[in-house]
Amino acid sequence: MANSSLSDLLTSHRVIVTVGSGGVGKTTTAAAIALAGARAGRRVLCLTIDPAKRLATSLGLGSMSHEAQKIDSAVLGLAPDSKGSLTAMMLDVRRTFDELVTRYAQTPEARDRILSNSIYQQIASSLAGTPEYMAMEKLYALKDDPQYDLIVLDTPPTSNALDFLEAPDKMVAAMDSPTIRAFVSAFEKGGSMSLKLLSKAMAQVLQGLSKFTGAGFLEQIAGFLTDLQSMFGGFKERALKVREQLKSKSVAFVIVSSPEPMAVTESLFFAEKLVEGGMHLEAVVFNRVRRVDPVDVSSPQRIANILREADIEQPVELAAGILKAYHDASVWSRRDAGEIVRARRELPLVPRFIEVPAFDEDVYDLRALTRVANYVAPA
Ligand SMILES: Nc1ncnc2c1ncn2[C@@H]1O[C@H](COP(=O)(O)OP(=O)(O)O)[C@@H](O)[C@H]1O
Ligand SMILES: [Mg+2]
Repeated sequence: MANSSLSDLLTSHRVIVTVGSGGVGKTTTAAAIALAGARAGRRVLCLTIDPAKRLATSLGLGSMSHEAQKIDSAVLGLAPDSKGSLTAMMLDVRRTFDELVTRYAQTPEARDRILSNSIYQQIASSLAGTPEYMAMEKLYALKDDPQYDLIVLDTPPTSNALDFLEAPDKMVAAMDSPTIRAFVSAFEKGGSMSLKLLSKAMAQVLQGLSKFTGAGFLEQIAGFLTDLQSMFGGFKERALKVREQLKSKSVAFVIVSSPEPMAVTESLFFAEKLVEGGMHLEAVVFNRVRRVDPVDVSSPQRIANILREADIEQPVELAAGILKAYHDASVWSRRDAGEIVRARRELPLVPRFIEVPAFDEDVYDLRALTRVANYVAPA
């Protein structure tokens, strides 16, 4: 029988990664897990990607700062003698990429050339898979930080959950693409670029980059790509290490899913890919589950009677309306419950399934986050 809380993960694992499709509640769940970890006495770092502004504010990331922000334990409601703490940090894709370049550039001159290059500045945030890759990269850089017992990693708001898994390959492929290689060799042969050497594909790429025009543009781009390629071995090796790291037993993956049929189907597929990839899928969180509490409403007349007893003069039509709304809510509720049963049946090896109800309001402050935390890992 699977567990319905992930409390034990808070102490048994060093890293917890929330993954799932866009908008399902990854950021919310990551923050709630982090809060639960602090309550359990862990020194937690919550590395978040795209917190809604109000949630960021309540996590002390009001100015959307990319520095680590330690949240006041009194604000968190921790006991004065608690060893637990919660530090929040926003992932800065660009800065993480810059740090990588700094690490792998062959010379300080090459580093400066790359960082100041306008093409790099474009690429650094828009290359395929960059945010996904940088999230993992940051995790890799922080995983041994002795200041923290537990790192909770939120993942980027990609529409497809698989993007996250494929990020290292996409990054490597983007940097090692035939187009880029052809660019570099064309440049190296002539020492400067000639349009004649450009293939059709490259000409198209250039058209796409038409805002970078002017003298020396081709030299600039080729020089940049040459610098980038010189670092490529380092990047590639690192991407492999980052990926290996994700397979470690100390890294727990938590899939966050909506209970909608299509979302569940996607999550099942994603679960299979995670496991195939050698990662440890430790829990599935169904977020925004619709529930109705059973109440005794057998007929409109009966509701009308209840209202009358309570001295509320209401027409029978209102009672019928209430009954209809209740009926609709029950249908949604049964449907969600059915989808959760299906997922549990299809994933017999997943040790934890958690259900978080749909709240009437967005989760944007610590009070609401505490409510979520109470479902994820009851205090
Ligand atoms: N259980 C819930 N009930 C109500 N609103 C929720 C719940 N979980 C998340 N939300 C809201 O849904 C929106 C998307 O959540 P978020 O965690 O940012 O998703 P993701 O990171 O997967 O894109 C946010 O506005 C959040 O406050
Ligand atoms: Mg998010």
